[in-house]
Amino acid sequence: MAASRQRPPAGETSWERVAIWYDGWVGDHGSAYHRGLAIPAVLELLDPQPGERILDVGGGQGVLAPYLADAGAATTVVDASARLIAAAKRRHRTVRGARFLVGDARRLPAVVGLEEASLDAAVFLLSIQDMDPLDEVLRGVDWALTDRSRVVLLMTHPAFRQPRHSGWGYDEGRKLTYRRIDAYLGEMAVPMKSLGGGLPTRSFHRPISAYVNALADAGFATDAMLELPDLPPGRRPGRAVRGDARANTEIPIFLGLRAVRG
Ligand SMILES: C[S@@+](CC[C@H](N)C(=O)[O-])C[C@H]1O[C@@H](n2cnc3c(N)ncnc32)[C@H](O)[C@@H]1O
Repeated sequence: MAASRQRPPAGETSWERVAIWYDGWVGDHGSAYHRGLAIPAVLELLDPQPGERILDVGGGQGVLAPYLADAGAATTVVDASARLIAAAKRRHRTVRGARFLVGDARRLPAVVGLEEASLDAAVFLLSIQDMDPLDEVLRGVDWALTDRSRVVLLMTHPAFRQPRHSGWGYDEGRKLTYRRIDAYLGEMAVPMKSLGGGLPTRSFHRPISAYVNALADAGFATDAMLELPDLPPGRRPGRAVRGDARANTEIPIFLGLRAVRG
């Protein structure tokens, strides 16, 4: 990360202050984006197997746990927000094998209930861009996973959807909608706009190479990648249709990475 940036306190990235709104927005089965794009992509990359133990880092109110249970896998959710973990326990108490733990992803060995080399895979569902520094988080994942394991990251696409540094434009001459990108390589902490009336959370922009190289430093080799376009206009909640159909199908909204070891 940029040398000038300080390590943020956990409270700055936790979604504790927007937990009630977020829990309501996600619900039992996930938002339209979870159900239509993010969760299917995670399941495709992860390919969970019966009996596997999966660590869901920054798992919020536990939306992924029932989907992993359907595949026969047991989920351990870790999240910095005590309110979201309480919501997870309420919503998903009957999900087989699910555990919900409050903890800082940057200090996984200190999370009560986690043991070294005890889990088969780790998933970051829309959470890795809320965490910093990356190397501390991935060191903890390295500690928690077995020698033969995998990591799946699902995030908003860093090359096309960086907060405050990208947007849609319209080229009158060519009569087409295009994506404007005015920053990519530089890593930065970005205050997000206020969600659900709560205080703004914080997000961290990094180029794709930062993720691939940090995974490699932690011993995980990236072996699969998915780039997902936005939901079709009729299924996109709460937003005016932006761009033309081609721009929406050509410019991805999410990036998924899988990395393996052993
Ligand atoms: C966008 S939410 C995603 C939650 C969940 N994965 C989902 O898809 O609904 C990001 C989550 O990361 C969690 N988070 C941020 N920083 C964290 C940290 N240092 N340790 C653990 N969780 C953290 C937040 O509390 C929040 O629940």
